[in-house]
Order: sequence, then C-alpha cells, then structure tokens
Amino acid sequence: MMYFSFYNFIFLLNFIFTIAAFIPNGRWIHSSVLIDKKLYFKGGNKINNNSIEGLTNELFYLDISKPFTTTDNVSIPWIDLTYTGSPLKGEATACIGGKNNDIIFVFGGYSPLNQPFVNQFDTSKQQWSNIQSVGPRYRQDISCAKFSGGLIAIFSGLSDPDFINDLWIFDTLTFSWSLSNAANAPPQRFGYCAITLPDENILYIGGVKFTDLANISSYIPMNILPLYNTKSHIWTNMSISGPIPSIRTLFSAILTPDRRIIIFGGCTNGGALGDLWILDTVVFQWSIGKILNSVEGLVLCGHTATLVEIYIIVAFGSFINGSLSSKLFMLDVSQKDSYRWVNEFTTNVTFPSNTSISDFKIPSLTIGAITGCVIFLVILIITMLCYRTYKILKRKQLQKAIKNMSI
Ligand SMILES: *[C@@H]1O[C@H](CO)[C@@H](O)[C@H](O)[C@H]1NC(C)=O
Ligand SMILES: *[C@@H]1O[C@H](CO)[C@@H](O)[C@H](O)[C@H]1NC(C)=O
Ligand SMILES: *[C@@H]1O[C@H](CO)[C@@H](O)[C@H](O)[C@H]1NC(C)=O
Ligand SMILES: *[C@@H]1O[C@H](CO)[C@@H](O)[C@H](O)[C@H]1NC(C)=O
Ligand SMILES: *[C@@H]1O[C@H](CO)[C@@H](O)[C@H](O)[C@H]1NC(C)=O
Repeated sequence: MMYFSFYNFIFLLNFIFTIAAFIPNGRWIHSSVLIDKKLYFKGGNKINNNSIEGLTNELFYLDISKPFTTTDNVSIPWIDLTYTGSPLKGEATACIGGKNNDIIFVFGGYSPLNQPFVNQFDTSKQQWSNIQSVGPRYRQDISCAKFSGGLIAIFSGLSDPDFINDLWIFDTLTFSWSLSNAANAPPQRFGYCAITLPDENILYIGGVKFTDLANISSYIPMNILPLYNTKSHIWTNMSISGPIPSIRTLFSAILTPDRRIIIFGGCTNGGALGDLWILDTVVFQWSIGKILNSVEGLVLCGHTATLVEIYIIVAFGSFINGSLSSKLFMLDVSQKDSYRWVNEFTTNVTFPSNTSISDFKIPSLTIGAITGCVIFLVILIITMLCYRTYKILKRKQLQKAIKNMSI
C-alpha cells in the first residue's frame, strides 16, 4: 500500500512538474494545427542536418485562452502531451477532421519505425490510433488541405522514384481514400502550401520539383497558382496580377477573414527568406507586405504559421545561420496595408468588423512545416532521403544534382 502510494505520489509530482515547466526547444519541419483554443505542435526535427536521430515525437499545445509574452518563454502556456504515445515521424503534415473537428490527422512523413501513412490523435480522448486503409503511398513534405464535410486533400509530395502528382482525398468520417482522376493536374511538387479558399477551391502555392533541386527552373513560379475545384474536380489556374514573389519552398501561408493569403519566409536555392507577401484573393493580386517594424535576423524556414485572432503565430523553424528557433514570433495582420511584429498576445482581439466577409470560414489548415533553407542543408536532406530510398533512387540522378549545386 505504502509502496504504491509513494510511487503514485512521485509520478503525480513529476507529472505536475513536467506540465508546469515545459518549454519546448528549437525544432523545424514540425506540423501545427489549431483546435478551438489550443494550438497543437507535432514532431519535427531538433537537429538542423535533418537526420533521423534528430526526429522528435513531441506533441504539445499552446493554450491560446491565456495571454502571454513571446519574449518571456516562462510566460508562454505550453502543455506537453508527448506522454500520449505520439508517433515518431518527420516532415509530415497535419490537418483536423472528424465529426467534431477535434481529431488531428497526421499524413505522410518518414519514420525509422515504419509508421502507417495516417495517424490520428483524438484530442478529446487524448488517444492515438493508426489508420490502415489503403491510400497514397509513402511521401513527405505535403501540405494537407481540409475542405467541406470532413474531407482532406493530399497532393503530390516528395516521394520515390517517379515523383507523382496525384491528388488523394481522405474522408475523416469514414477513414476512406479516393484518388482524383482530374485531368491537367499540375506538375509534381513538394514544400508547397495549400490553402482552402472560402469557395472550397484549394489553391496550391510554390514549392519545388524534387528531380532537380539545384536548378532554379525546377522551382514552381509563384505566379502559376493551380486551383483544385473540390466540387467539380477540375484543375484550373488562378489568374493573378501584381509583382511576383520570388520562388520558394518551405514557407508558410495563412488566409485572413478578408481573404488575404499571407505568406512568410521559406527558402530558395539561393538562401533563406524573411519577406512577407500578400495575395489578395478578392482582387487576385500579389503585393509585398509592408512590415512596420522588421525584426533583425527574422529569416525562417521549416517554421509553421497559424492565424489566431488577428495574429499570425510563427513558430519554430530554422534561422538563416542554421540554428533552430525555439521562439514564437507574432505578426499583427489586422491592417491590410501594414503589418507589425508584436510580443504581447492578448485574447479576444478580433478583426475590425468591416474586414470580415460574412460567409467566411477559417479553414483549419496549417502547413506541415518543412525543411531546409541553406543549400547545404538541402543537400543533406537529399542525402538523407537517398539513404532511405537508395534501393529505388537512381544514384546517378542524385550525383548529378549535387554536382550541379553551387555552394
Ligand atoms: C547530424 O548531427 C548530429 C549531431 O550533431 C550527428 O550526431 C549526426 O551524425 C549528424 N547526421 C548526419 C546524417 O549528418
Ligand atoms: C528561456 O529564456 C531564458 C532567457 O532568455 C533562456 O536563458 C532560457 O534558455 C530559455 N529556455 C528555453 C528552454 O529555451
Ligand atoms: C534546369 O532546368 C531547365 C528546365 O527544366 C533546363 O532547361 C536546364 O537545362 C536545367 N539546367 C541545369 C543546369 O540542369
Ligand atoms: C496552368 O498554367 C501552366 C503554365 O502556364 C500551364 O502549363 C498549365 O497547363 C495550366 N493549367 C491549366 C489547368 O490550365
Ligand atoms: C542565429 O540567428 C538567430 C536569429 O537572429 C539568433 O537568435 C541566434 O542567436 C543565432 N545563432 C547563432 C549560433 O549565431
């Protein structure tokens, strides 16, 4: 009796201490989803060479029902849920679904432990389970997009060896997959961002083709924006005007209630980016986002970004110097013409009512954050991928890609 209660007591103490003291350390290539007042973070890599040994299975959330200061890490209300048995996966993407939109679905990614393509975490029961139904084959660096009635689209991704550009739809109510047969699918890509628009078309922005990572012309131009119509299952391109953002992968994108898509950071084969771009989907125009107070050194990739009230919460990622960020950065996006980095998160701050568009629903999608900024990191990723898939990958192709990279 005594024995049991002593250990129970220690366990409880340890449990409470862990919860109270949890401060996540730096990581990138994680994924993130918002459910109600909890911003969940899953996985990622804690080593910037993106190796298997750096993978983390951590699962935790930021309690956004409470105010905090981003510069004071002790004030940030983190809650660790890793003890729930979170699976180990790298470069996965996560979206929410289920009848009550309270289930996190983690798609794709690599794992030393042969994880299934989909894992699900029921946030109400705090329980993980695997989904074994037959669907897409192995791929990573996807950006899942949730749309009507609990459906989630998975497009292309980094795979082997023939770099497919297929689009699959997962039903989060029945756990079944279907493959889209739509003609004119855009070329394969990874490290892109998918955004579900209020009309339920899915917009695909940026990314890069795997086959020729060193080649600038294998990046997807930012003015070619494929749209997948989830009702008619037809691919079109969005026509847009304005200046064109530089090519990039591994960036973040969010949609505001007044239909601005805001993209931040990422990287190209020329290095990392800290710029902000706005795609106004009311007038179909790109413009440069004007930041009133730029933060020195704020150049990130492999981060995640989530719209919470009027803020974009930019979390973790890799700085340009290769160190991994353990920080949160918060951008006030309430004004259309100017953007401001802020440190204080205050709850219940909403967009000015004139900016809201009544039929708008914030899609609960977040980009699965992805990988490397600096060329040498990208090379390491390829090397690592090659190690995983060397049986199938044509060695010659890789060597050629690496040789063509100018460091
Ligand atoms: C990555 O870095 C870690 C820590 O520095 C090191 O132990 C590991 O061998 C490296 N892995 C690769 C594939 O370079
Ligand atoms: C929290 O911030 C303090 C002060 O900046 C720093 O010394 C400490 O290492 C941080 N802790 C973590 C876990 O990042
Ligand atoms: C880069 O790709 C373009 C188009 O695919 C091709 O024309 C060009 O030769 C490639 N350049 C290199 C250096 O491989
Ligand atoms: C979209 O634009 C690209 C580049 O101009 C073109 O190759 C492609 O065929 C277009 N796709 C559709 C579905 O019209
Ligand atoms: C890398 O850059 C970040 C952001 O500027 C900075 O906070 C960090 O101290 C730098 N790390 C190193 C090792 O220089």
